[in-house]
Amino acid sequence: MRIDVLTLFPEMFSGPLQASILGRAIEGGLVEVVLHNIRDYAEDKHHVVDDYPFGGGPGMVMKPEPLFAAVDAVAGLEPAKGHVILLTPQGRLLTQSIGDELSRRERLILVCGHYEGVDERVREHLVDDEISIGDYVLSGGELPAMVLIDVVVRRLPGALGSEESLTEESHAQGLLEYPQYTRPAEFRGWQVPDVLLSGHHAQIAAWRRQQSILRTARRRPDLLERAALTEAERRLVAEALAEKD
Ligand code: ADE
Repeated sequence: MRIDVLTLFPEMFSGPLQASILGRAIEGGLVEVVLHNIRDYAEDKHHVVDDYPFGGGPGMVMKPEPLFAAVDAVAGLEPAKGHVILLTPQGRLLTQSIGDELSRRERLILVCGHYEGVDERVREHLVDDEISIGDYVLSGGELPAMVLIDVVVRRLPGALGSEESLTEESHAQGLLEYPQYTRPAEFRGWQVPDVLLSGHHAQIAAWRRQQSILRTARRRPDLLERAALTEAERRLVAEALAEKD
């Protein structure tokens, strides 16, 4: 996979792209992340990338020309034009399933917005998709782009050490993950649940499934609407929610 990032602040990406799973995926050639400074595509002498909004109002707006020139230059490269995504608080909310969908693409081009926004013609004629990472406003699209890259890259086959961690983690099956423990079995008087020490795999799996469901019911009942639960599990949820009231 190849991900091109168009940004005014390429230096913001160096830490996250080098560490942990992402760093290893890049190092191992699973994904190539190429950073482009939008300012390099501004053709005037001072490399101006923003201007006052027509009609007045506060703040500055990113000009269309450097963004179109940057996408044109990058999209012309092989493999052919990727899916162009603008990171913006006005986009569709990023979820695990959007991450999965994007991870199956060969190429992505991420456009990081800044200032008060980008010229509307960028939205209308340049980008294919707009993504938000949450209902809050950040100073720019850089952190959201890094979040998106992380979500996408960790879904690439081979990015994680063990394939299992993908199917068990939160949101993988529409549920939050069960509680995890490691040694010591007793810490400051707090015990690890007996079942986890029993070595009984079927009972451990059943306990984990139940904990996942209960935790999701209590913390994120909205997620349960789309989770595949058995009749008995639905009853468990109803009881847990009744208890809460
Ligand atoms: N740019 C500024 N805030 C953002 C957000 N919440 N998601 C995506 N891009 C953004």
